[in-house]
Amino acid sequence: MSILSIKNLSKTYQSGSRKLTVLDEVNFDIQAGETLAIVGPSGSGKTTLLGLCAGLDSGTTGSVVLNGQALEKMNEDQRASVRNKDVGFIFQNFQLLPTLTALENVMVPLELKKRKDARQKALELLAKVGLGDRATHYPTQLSGGEQQRVSIARAFANEPKILFADEPTGNLDTETGEMIEKLIFDLNKEQGTTLVLVTHDLELAAKTQRIIHIKGGKIQEDVHA
Ligand SMILES: Nc1ncnc2c1ncn2[C@@H]1O[C@H](COP(=O)(O)OP(=O)(O)O)[C@@H](O)[C@H]1O
Ligand SMILES: [Mg+2]
Repeated sequence: MSILSIKNLSKTYQSGSRKLTVLDEVNFDIQAGETLAIVGPSGSGKTTLLGLCAGLDSGTTGSVVLNGQALEKMNEDQRASVRNKDVGFIFQNFQLLPTLTALENVMVPLELKKRKDARQKALELLAKVGLGDRATHYPTQLSGGEQQRVSIARAFANEPKILFADEPTGNLDTETGEMIEKLIFDLNKEQGTTLVLVTHDLELAAKTQRIIHIKGGKIQEDVHA
């Protein structure tokens, strides 16, 4: 079953009188449970593509069907509801809410889902990523690797159907990055989530089942291992 189906997806930005095509007629399908990497040079449209796939933004033309739901036909509120129900996102710069503790950050998606056991579940996830003793710390009181672990706990909290990670180790040193990679792959395996990873790191990309190469907003290659 396709968990994500992208058809003729394009995105253009208007800058003054010039039109900038950032994604150009992109097509691919991802099967449920698949792990996949998107690689390409800086500025090739990876982050834009991931944002469209995750319903963070909408394309100029084309369609994005996520878990059977056509995102291009939805308004922002409807997309937000799909994101909270089906999608997890891990960002390069963590994007934790600075005024919330580690625990409260992980609780956000659970509370949006009105889960009564939000606190308990968030504490379990923090323990799973090795931060059981950091629950009351604020993001500024945590190292980069610890912040990314909190964001991983948050991303898996609502048991997403599909997880998007945009250069999740890009801001971390090699050793910490390797620990974060392992955590993402381990939790992914445990929960049977579909994983879409954007990375510069070809060694990391090689750990997935499929690599999509993108350049200038177009898919150059789509290689299954
Ligand atoms: N909001 C925006 N307005 C105008 N141009 C943008 C915007 N967001 C991204 N771009 C441009 O789109 C291109 C692709 O960006 P991005 O998707 O971030 O690439 P990547 O993640 O592969 O480095 C870049 O040339 C970037 O400058
Ligand atoms: Mg990017």
